[in-house]
Amino acid sequence: MIKEVLDWDSKFFGFPVEKITLDRFFSEEQFRMLLAESAADVVYIYSPQDLTPEQETAIAMSGAVKYDVRTTFEKPITSGLISSNIVKINEMTNELEQLAWIAGGDSRYNFDPRFRPYFRKLYSEWLRKAFVSDESVVLAVMESGKIAGMVIISMTATTGKVELLAVAPEFRGRGVGSGLLDAVGAICLERGKKISSVVTQQKNIPACKLYAKNGYIIKKQETVWHWWKVSNREEA
Ligand SMILES: CC(C)(COP(=O)(O)OP(=O)(O)OC[C@H]1O[C@@H](n2cnc3c(N)ncnc32)[C@H](O)[C@@H]1OP(=O)(O)O)[C@@H](O)C(=O)NCCC(=O)NCCS
Repeated sequence: MIKEVLDWDSKFFGFPVEKITLDRFFSEEQFRMLLAESAADVVYIYSPQDLTPEQETAIAMSGAVKYDVRTTFEKPITSGLISSNIVKINEMTNELEQLAWIAGGDSRYNFDPRFRPYFRKLYSEWLRKAFVSDESVVLAVMESGKIAGMVIISMTATTGKVELLAVAPEFRGRGVGSGLLDAVGAICLERGKKISSVVTQQKNIPACKLYAKNGYIIKKQETVWHWWKVSNREEA
């Protein structure tokens, strides 16, 4: 069981945020103590998929609510292509900002009613940060002067991570998403990254199918719960 204080999240939301990562051997008693001692307003609890019924019950009884099955896909990168209608973008536009919100539509920050007021601001900030980092690339697909889709890729030592990806509703089902993933491959090769990864929600079926169709394989799945110090039950 690991507990971390999340500085960036705490600063962004304006209240203390912590994260607890549970392994499959955690004891219910230790878990309860860790929450009781927490100084945070909200704790993200990451748990493995193969918990015992007693462990599941202990988490649920704490008042934590399950919001996500966080699904990490990875792909070894051997090829890539930036088609002629894909451009690099260096500054924020309204169209891109709206696509950033679309990218986060299935996010736990949109589903948890206490985070929802911050949801758009959070995704706008994610996009804004990409423009000021040398380690991030923002690509857009242009169709008749409009942005049909966009992706943000950020670099780690070995990996090009897909941060946000979205296709505008009227352009879906025409290969725009797959074209963006081909471009991700090209950017990874350009930057010497041998792997591309992406995190999405298990319930986001179009996204999971898009990644699988484009050669990404599930590497990890974790359940994410939110535990608020003043629980919904206490408030009711
Ligand atoms: C997921 C998303 C990016 C797909 O974009 P797209 O341009 O429509 O995808 P493509 O046309 O390239 O589709 C490629 C494959 O993805 C899968 N797919 C795409 N949309 C799908 C849907 N609605 N249902 C099921 N599978 C779907 C299919 O396997 C498809 O291949 P096929 O056309 O041969 O069946 C788009 O639906 C979207 O923007 N969704 C909202 C934002 C989002 O969820 N972003 C991902 C966050 S991680």
